[in-house]
Amino acid sequence: MENFMQLEKNNVHLWIQNINELTPSNIFELEKYLSLLEKKRRSRFLYVADQKRFAVAYGMLRKILGDYLNQMPESFDFQTTAHGKPYLKNYPIEFNLSHSGDFVVWAFSTCAVGIDVEYMNRKVEILELAKRFFAPEEYRTLKQLPAASQQKAFYQCWTRKEAFIKASGEGLSYPLNDFTVTLEPNAFGNCLSAVRGQAALASNWFLTAFNLSDDYEGAVAVKCSTPQIQVLSL
Ligand SMILES: CC(C)(COP(=O)(O)OP(=O)(O)OC[C@H]1O[C@@H](n2cnc3c(N)ncnc32)[C@H](O)[C@@H]1OP(=O)(O)O)[C@@H](O)C(=O)NCCC(=O)NCCS
Repeated sequence: MENFMQLEKNNVHLWIQNINELTPSNIFELEKYLSLLEKKRRSRFLYVADQKRFAVAYGMLRKILGDYLNQMPESFDFQTTAHGKPYLKNYPIEFNLSHSGDFVVWAFSTCAVGIDVEYMNRKVEILELAKRFFAPEEYRTLKQLPAASQQKAFYQCWTRKEAFIKASGEGLSYPLNDFTVTLEPNAFGNCLSAVRGQAALASNWFLTAFNLSDDYEGAVAVKCSTPQIQVLSL
């Protein structure tokens, strides 16, 4: 195995893939790694684009895990938590994935990790959604921004919140107003401002944004106060 496939303590590796950059033969190779259950899930998607995204998400997850753990990609038997987060029993690695539009992203770490990517859909009623899902102070901050900055800020907030609840493993059962994130553009520091109103609880975590392309927002959260985050591409 190559040396770069080593995850040290506190490392977080982000892998980013634009699906359009893969050839049909790349996708064919990845499909071979899927389990029977994953193949069944893939075939339930109506649209070819969704089938392809799913195959890349889980095929590549298996390939990257295989490289970190020196195992065959097909050999992994994923478990899921009560809230649906996939994990591997008996291996010292945490991971998470997200897909939206043309992108699939994965995060790997030795600490609990969550990742989110979202295509910035300009048709979304952002203020309505923010009022419903964001913490009151996040909604207030969003409303006070100039109209031209609101859409990006909305997706920054959304992906940061989503990455945090995915790292917690609780998904949407985690109350979305129980923690607050920053909405600033390009905030590459810790974007988690408080958990249960306390900045001290937020400092057990690191939540940050990462760049994909102009139409997408991405964020990653990790339960580790001083992670070393590295972006890798295939
Ligand atoms: C399921 C959920 C974890 C992520 O949903 P999503 O953003 O639509 O999807 P993503 O592409 O980011 O992530 C999906 C992947 O996360 C993983 N996942 C599933 N449940 C998870 C959980 N509880 N925790 C962490 N990861 C989870 C799976 O690998 C899943 O892939 P699959 O659906 O292809 O099997 C959940 O948070 C959700 O339903 N969110 C809906 C959006 C919302 O209301 N967000 C409010 C933000 S303010």
